[in-house]
Amino acid sequence: MSQQVISIGLEGIVVAETELSLVDGINGLLVYRNHWARDLAIEKTFEEVAHLLWYGHLPDREELNRLKSQLVANRTLPSYVKAAIDLIPSDVDMMSVLRTGVSLLGNAGHDWPPTMDQVISLTAKVPTIVAYRQARLEGREPVEPRSDLDHTANYLYMLKGTEPNQAHVRALDAYLILTQEHGMNASTFSGRVVSSTRSDLISAVTAAIGALKGPLHGGAPSGVIEMMEQIGTPENAEPWLRKALENGERIMGFGHRVYKTRDPRSEALQVVASQLSADDPWFALATHVEKVALKLLEEYKPGRKLNTNVEFYAAAVMRAVGLPDTLFTPTFAVSRTVGWCAHILEQAANNRIIRPESLYIGQMPK
Ligand SMILES: CC(C)(COP(=O)(O)OP(=O)(O)OC[C@H]1O[C@@H](n2cnc3c(N)ncnc32)[C@H](O)[C@@H]1OP(=O)(O)O)[C@@H](O)C(=O)NCCC(=O)NCCS
Repeated sequence: MSQQVISIGLEGIVVAETELSLVDGINGLLVYRNHWARDLAIEKTFEEVAHLLWYGHLPDREELNRLKSQLVANRTLPSYVKAAIDLIPSDVDMMSVLRTGVSLLGNAGHDWPPTMDQVISLTAKVPTIVAYRQARLEGREPVEPRSDLDHTANYLYMLKGTEPNQAHVRALDAYLILTQEHGMNASTFSGRVVSSTRSDLISAVTAAIGALKGPLHGGAPSGVIEMMEQIGTPENAEPWLRKALENGERIMGFGHRVYKTRDPRSEALQVVASQLSADDPWFALATHVEKVALKLLEEYKPGRKLNTNVEFYAAAVMRAVGLPDTLFTPTFAVSRTVGWCAHILEQAANNRIIRPESLYIGQMPK
């Protein structure tokens, strides 16, 4: 038998070549196809960056208008999807509803290989599923998507049922751009694995949503809000964090498999959040908690290089734009759908089934 090398958690294992993004964990850099993600978040819109990831270049005016109108044309949910969502008990969490809603979009027209039309149709509907369910939970009549609003503005409009505030749209757009794509993270890998079997786009994205839901991946920002609530005051930050670390707990919003320095997305989102939250005591407390957490992580976990990750200030941005914490991870899914689809298209263009091995450590039959 050949010698097998195990990498628990697949750390350091490269499973694909990609042109989509570079996640440089040593220098804290994030590139989307030859552009700094941070610059794109400041200068571009959700649709422009989606175009960059899907088609390989930023769109000219005509290409952008085409993509926008395709997205607008695909936002409405089929009535059977709405009816099925209405049957789900209200205590089922939003990520499970989204996973179910997306799964229902699969049909015979979604065979492998995935097409750009499928990608656009799915991306357009993910925000509508979340907003439809949210309106129902709040006892409001869900509003129909608005064709005069861009992706992010329409998402906020559908979530609240009122005209979106421009500063909120801009801040949320920056967050959604910064989280569209991030290399071979767990949910993207899940989507690629499913797609590599020549299964359809909807099945691949349904799997990706399941992976994103976990608290070690996309579920972390709600954990940040919970932690902040429990800490409550600046004086309580150090004793609370110390106790958590002594109990072997993980501090949500810190640590990353790839970044061994500060996550560049957290830096950019801190700026975005601070612009909206200048006078908010919650934000001042968050900044203090971050400082204390970094000091204590170094004390309790020396040499592990645990820094602030994207989720810490993602929570701050989403809170500042008025989203309840139950919508944090679903909103992450709204943006990451772009990256999942880009990876699934890339996988299909050069496909080989992803099939690693395991090392049998059980008994042999007598
Ligand atoms: C993101 C994460 C899952 C990466 O995990 P990983 O690369 O497998 O890292 P490991 O679990 O091997 O952790 C390495 C060490 O750092 C510790 N560690 C990692 N993140 C930690 C955190 N947030 N709080 C406390 N300790 C942490 C681990 O306990 C481990 O300590 P040990 O060497 O004494 O066993 C992990 O850092 C984490 O759980 N963070 C909190 C959740 C979060 O914010 N997720 C969002 C990611 S964007």
